[in-house]
Amino acid sequence: MRVIKTVADFREARRQVAGSLGFVPTMGYLHDGHLSLVRAARAGNDCVSASIFVNPTQFGPNEDLSRYPRDLERDLAMLRAEGTDLVFAPGVEDMYPQGFATHVDVTGPLTARLEGAARPGHFKGVATVVTKLFNIVQPTRAYFGQKDAQQALVIKKIVADLDMNLEVIVMPTVREEDGLAMSSRNVYLKAKEREAALVLSRSLALARDKWSRGEKDAERIREDMRKLIESEPLAKIDYVSIADASTLEELETLDKLALISLAVRVGNTRLIDNILL
Ligand code: PAF
Repeated sequence: MRVIKTVADFREARRQVAGSLGFVPTMGYLHDGHLSLVRAARAGNDCVSASIFVNPTQFGPNEDLSRYPRDLERDLAMLRAEGTDLVFAPGVEDMYPQGFATHVDVTGPLTARLEGAARPGHFKGVATVVTKLFNIVQPTRAYFGQKDAQQALVIKKIVADLDMNLEVIVMPTVREEDGLAMSSRNVYLKAKEREAALVLSRSLALARDKWSRGEKDAERIREDMRKLIESEPLAKIDYVSIADASTLEELETLDKLALISLAVRVGNTRLIDNILL
């Protein structure tokens, strides 16, 4: 496995790749969710690359950029064990040199709602860094997790709108045994908060249960989810959404593929989760 720090060195290594290249962009502090993406990339391509870069432009001024967990040596050992060929781990100055002035901004409903509404500027930061990473890595296929459902839609939109020559593959959310969706941010949770955080997956299970019993009224399901979350004293709802899975427009009736998603603060930690119904 080669670990490459600069854009010029990565381009040089890329030129030597024969066949297809699978790519897994990450912000590091890897968990089994990331590794499931690496495994899918390994299975579907001749070569596998991953990036590790905590992208400052996708964090808001009062978000967790400075305390975001980092452990490069641990990440590299995990990637090596999965048979990764190339790791791109640039510094902030490599990705955003002085005078950097170009941004990619997906406009319209896809970024106006949910995470886009709660985190102004977040998707502009994601879109810009992912576009840069795609230009540097030149992957055949890029792998993202369904846990960041809206991010996956935004990236598919960029690839389509900017005629990028790669395939975006979205893999299922990986969960802890008790249902908590894996996230690098789960390390922030203290013992009591870790327990309280189960309210996210439980409220999604409740939605699935109501729906499978025939409930099609979206507001009734949202209301039941909110009640369940509000019964947990450590949890504070940011949003609970039942939306069209491709446009993210809120639904009145569950009569098409729906993305049920939520963002909840547990203590100081903001967690997101979703299912498709
Ligand atoms: O999902 C993530 O970890 C990040 O948003 C990504 C796609 C690596 C861009 O920084």
